[in-house]
Amino acid sequence: MTDRSVAAMGGEPNTANPLLEIADVTMRFGGIVALDAVTFSISQGRIAGLIGPNGAGKTTLFNCLSRLYRPIRGDIRLNGRSLNRCSPSDIAALGIGRTFQAPTLFASMSVLDNVKVGAHARGANTPLTDALSLPYMRREEREFEQIANRMLKFVGLDQMAGRPAANLSLGSRKRVELARALAAQPSLLLLDEPAGGLNHAEVAELGALVRSIRDEFGITVLLVEHHMGLVMSLSDQVVVLNFGRVIADGSPDEVRSNPAVTEAYLGTQH
Ligand SMILES: Nc1ncnc2c1ncn2[C@@H]1O[C@H](COP(=O)(O)OP(=O)(O)OP(=O)(O)O)[C@@H](O)[C@H]1O
Ligand SMILES: [Mg+2]
Repeated sequence: MTDRSVAAMGGEPNTANPLLEIADVTMRFGGIVALDAVTFSISQGRIAGLIGPNGAGKTTLFNCLSRLYRPIRGDIRLNGRSLNRCSPSDIAALGIGRTFQAPTLFASMSVLDNVKVGAHARGANTPLTDALSLPYMRREEREFEQIANRMLKFVGLDQMAGRPAANLSLGSRKRVELARALAAQPSLLLLDEPAGGLNHAEVAELGALVRSIRDEFGITVLLVEHHMGLVMSLSDQVVVLNFGRVIADGSPDEVRSNPAVTEAYLGTQH
């Protein structure tokens, strides 16, 4: 780990300075308003749950945060800095990591090499410096490998480092994806339905892992999840989206007892 991430470890959440501020973010697909003036913020060191029925706009918001989509209105600030001018390739270097609703690994590459991709995303390598293979690049490569090994150990997959990613179970693929996101040493981690498809025991292990991501590394987590037990037990703050709008933002208890939230979920399968 570098000084940057060591410095970020531990410490109390800073409630005065939000790490992430989302202001008036609006996104349309043709006639569909996927996000409608979405506004909320997350303090550093918190776990925030982002919930809502299918099609509420959760993944669309993640895609706006990682700049895959450009909102038609609004601003997203990380540590006070607007992301409006950033491209998707800037995101890892700015400190945003993510996992996807369906894991996206390089099937023929080893588990370790998949995780190293994350470390590279944060590093200073360019195609030119890679080609030149300068001594400092070889040093950096060794550092990337150490970080990747450390993150594989953290997610409990160090025994599988040399295996092709294609041979892993869904639960293990999700862990590799998590390790890859962590290897980029993010300050904000976006998790899109990490519990989807996992069994009861795997969900419990995932909960412990997400908590230790926050507690050991000081990483702020925004968690999209349909597994209500997991979200409510992990989150310091829960934001509820429905038809692209924020309908509730508060503690798990506040959100649980909010009639608008109950109504949004009525008739859905959650
Ligand atoms: N690329 C796209 N093109 C057109 N419409 C889209 C696109 N992406 C999302 N949408 C629409 O935007 C709305 C929000 O979708 P989104 O995938 O963000 O929902 P979600 O909250 O992540 O749902 P789920 O819980 O099912 O994953 C939906 O009506 C969806 O059909
Ligand atoms: Mg989604």
